[in-house]
Amino acid sequence: MAHFDPNARPFSNKWMNERLAVDTLKRVLSTEYWIPKNINFLWAMGMVLAATFGVLLISGIFLLMYYIPDTKLAFDSVNYTIMSEVGYGWLWRHVHGVAASVVFLIIYIHMLTGIYYGSYKKGRELIWISGMLLFVSFSAEAFSGYMLPWGQMSYWAGMVITNLFSLGSLEFNGLVEWIRGDYVPGQAFLGRFFMLHVLLMPLIIIGLIVLHFGTLRMPHVNNKDGEEYDFDAEAEKWKAGKRKESKVIPFNPVFLSKDVFVLGIYFILFFYLVFYHFEFAMDPVNFDPADPLKTPTHIYPEWYFLWSYEILRPFSKDIGLIWFGFAQVIFMLLPFLDRSPNVAPANRRRPFRCWFWILVVDMIVLTIMGKLPPTDPTFALIGKVAAYTFIGLWIALPFITMKEKLVGGKK
Ligand code: HEM
Repeated sequence: MAHFDPNARPFSNKWMNERLAVDTLKRVLSTEYWIPKNINFLWAMGMVLAATFGVLLISGIFLLMYYIPDTKLAFDSVNYTIMSEVGYGWLWRHVHGVAASVVFLIIYIHMLTGIYYGSYKKGRELIWISGMLLFVSFSAEAFSGYMLPWGQMSYWAGMVITNLFSLGSLEFNGLVEWIRGDYVPGQAFLGRFFMLHVLLMPLIIIGLIVLHFGTLRMPHVNNKDGEEYDFDAEAEKWKAGKRKESKVIPFNPVFLSKDVFVLGIYFILFFYLVFYHFEFAMDPVNFDPADPLKTPTHIYPEWYFLWSYEILRPFSKDIGLIWFGFAQVIFMLLPFLDRSPNVAPANRRRPFRCWFWILVVDMIVLTIMGKLPPTDPTFALIGKVAAYTFIGLWIALPFITMKEKLVGGKK
């Protein structure tokens, strides 16, 4: 049982430590949380993501004050009330829309950094898996948010995506209707996606961010060479004043100040987009109110879903669904599919380096093709080849990495 000093001044350091162990928390999470020196600005993307999520939460709360989750009123509450009547409503909407799009760009950069430097390997598997759960949750958050303005794309994208739950020729229509709460998207559908977007998904995301940070604490952050440090010994050097010799820096204040610098540059670019190019985050078709009797000629998702949409599209209904499911889960399995003993960056792992860059180019091609209408046979063919390439790359990964010899960085 801890000893409590009856004379400790309320809320003084001593008083707080006896109740919350604030000093221990500060040490474990901040001043004695050691980060390798050998990293670059890409390692600030995690903080950029956390900050962008904060922006989404704050702007979302302001929008929530005026949004009405009713199929007859939702469109006007967004496009008229928030955009024209509420002071600075347009600003909160543009901030929210731009952040929703940019967050995916940063997530992809963060994921690719992890793949390039092998940050999912040896002891870091749970960081990767919790990260992938965050990716799936962000996808659900973005999709449910897209339903809320109840425009043409909200309605028809909602129709197409929920149709996927009929599971192809199994024609599991009962499941689709159960999800929609009706035969077609309507009030029940909007109500439940509203709940998902403003309550359940944000709660899940917050929980997962805490888990993601927790999984980082024990294995520590990876570095540019994938080198395994003796963190205690390196930390001792730092504490003894041998700062040049030590390979690590404390999270607070040293690493944090670098993060804040990157965040500063990021927010300049972010607000440049908000004030001058917000249209990129708004689909023009969604400025028409939902009309169940008028199907848009070309239905497509937001840019960040296009690569997986293009894996679904070129195949027949059932096969397309199988590959679409494959694309959703395969990244999660990466720590187990990469069989090589190396935690070195991709530039030191020759075949893996080729695999990595082909994957990046292939996903860009899939994204571009996914935006084009499926009517042009050349583009349809390119899309199909890119989809096969994606599938082939993942099937080949264990075989490519199994043969890898130990290189530069330590195991
Ligand atoms: C909102 C979502 C996310 C937040 C707030 C977040 C936050 C962070 C932070 C702060 C770090 C430590 C510093 C850094 O490496 O940037 C980190 C590391 C990491 N994250 Fe995320 N992350 C998110 C999503 C993801 C996703 C989608 C993945 C992919 C699966 C992922 C995989 C990783 C990995 C592998 C590391 C370890 C990097 C290393 O050790 O070098 N994260 N994350």
